[in-house]
Amino acid sequence: QNSDSQTLLKMYSDAAKLYSHILMKTENGTPALKYLKNRDLSDDLIQTFDIGYAPNNNNLLLQFFKDRNISDDILRKSGLFAENQEGELFDRFRDRVMIPITDESGNIIAFSGRILDKNASTAKYLNSPETEIFNKGKTLFNLNNAKKEIREKGNVILFEGFMDVISAYKAGVTNGVASMGTSLTDQQLYVLSRLTNQINVCYDGDDPGVEATYRALTQLTDERFSYGVISIPDKKDPDEYVRTEGAQKFQSLANNGVQTPISFILNYFKRNYNLNNEHDQLEFLNQSLHEIVKLQSPVEIDMYVGKVAEEMNVSKEAINKELDALRRQIE
Ligand code: CTP
Ligand code: MN
Ligand code: MN
Ligand code: MN
Ligand code: MN
Repeated sequence: QNSDSQTLLKMYSDAAKLYSHILMKTENGTPALKYLKNRDLSDDLIQTFDIGYAPNNNNLLLQFFKDRNISDDILRKSGLFAENQEGELFDRFRDRVMIPITDESGNIIAFSGRILDKNASTAKYLNSPETEIFNKGKTLFNLNNAKKEIREKGNVILFEGFMDVISAYKAGVTNGVASMGTSLTDQQLYVLSRLTNQINVCYDGDDPGVEATYRALTQLTDERFSYGVISIPDKKDPDEYVRTEGAQKFQSLANNGVQTPISFILNYFKRNYNLNNEHDQLEFLNQSLHEIVKLQSPVEIDMYVGKVAEEMNVSKEAINKELDALRRQIE
């Protein structure tokens, strides 16, 4: 690693320490600490994730590094500052809860900052820009903490938000990671492939989360992995589920509630149809068969043919005939 990278790593580490100090030990941090307590995050958990607070003071961090003789060039490269019209630097993160993002070895390489106020007009989360030490497409939030558990459990859980990963961790589900707000890149898949061959998608249970799960399943075709889905009930996200239902229920959902992709997909299709109506029944059947026909395992095929048959109140023979017709059509 070149010397710029070393300096940047030291800066991110120092910045995290400063933000953490402000959160835990100063009056400026009180509202942020209260916010985190309201979200059921204990001091221990806040410290495990090195969470801090960037105060609403223009240039606290800038002054901190200027006092330590960091050059303008490095300040600009760090991504910790933004620039006004006159080309002057100022602190990028202000009045935000600061969640450090680490590399695989636990070095802090970026931040995600969350606003305290739900109604604020700026983005809920602000992430560091890419730098010499931060490549979004290579980074998975919490991978350093989760690595061992991913190996031992034999699967990784993919969450939508950082707070979901943190709440799951609190609830004892410690094999969770999140991407940086995009679908998994080839580089992230490569990193995961060295640890496990099972990816369980656990996105939010609201409509956008369900749509994103369907999209993820159609995009995740990497054959090094099998895939599963953990569906959160009542349109909650994993963090809300942990807080309202408790750690035990979330643990059993995460461990025993893993659906196969086809099972998720059939349920997903079903939402769009009124199965009391014959036209809709046939449409649903047709759409389902187009998915079942993609399956390889005869046992799995038989299982889902059975499910659809039961759902539609028709015989498995009839469905298998339709499936044969579809296969001939596709060939
Ligand atoms: N996101 C964002 N800005 C928003 C909404 C969403 O950057 N205004 C990103 C964040 O990375 C967030 C993810 O999209 O983690 C999922 O969005 P959402 O479910 O709304 O956020 P939560 O993770 O549930 O965040 P919180 O619980 O803190 O509200
Ligand atoms: Mn969401
Ligand atoms: Mn959410
Ligand atoms: Mn949430
Ligand atoms: Mn039609």
